[in-house]
Amino acid sequence: MNIDWDLLHNEALAAMKKAYVPYSKFPVGVAALVDDGRVISACNVENASYGLTLCAECGLVSSLIASGGGRLVAFSCVDISGNPLMPCGRCRQLLQEHGGSTLQMATNEGIKTLGDLLPWAFGPEEITDRLS
Ligand code: THU
Repeated sequence: MNIDWDLLHNEALAAMKKAYVPYSKFPVGVAALVDDGRVISACNVENASYGLTLCAECGLVSSLIASGGGRLVAFSCVDISGNPLMPCGRCRQLLQEHGGSTLQMATNEGIKTLGDLLPWAFGPEEITDRLS
């Protein structure tokens, strides 16, 4: 599947500009290609109760499911300067659920996979394999 990394980067940038970050002042934008070809994006949304902050990846996963589901194929995350940002640990786990280890990730060191960033991941198959 052809991945238009420039498009993903631009969609992540546009989403970053909509971030609600009155507390950290650290806007994050993400965009992803889904296996049916659609492109989705999201930004972080903070809260006066700081611990309730929603990372941009949370919004992305909600958007993925609400817009029809599917598998994440490629992912881009940017900071205020448009530089690649690495998802926090919790968000790597969110991406694992919906993209798996082959999800392609834009990084400062080129394209990596989620498997590179989250090796030996716990995922849905751990549960299904061990239930039977
Ligand atoms: N943040 C994200 O949106 N995604 C990440 O993967 C890392 C952190 C946000 C949360 C918070 O609003 C701000 O960045 C500073 O931590």
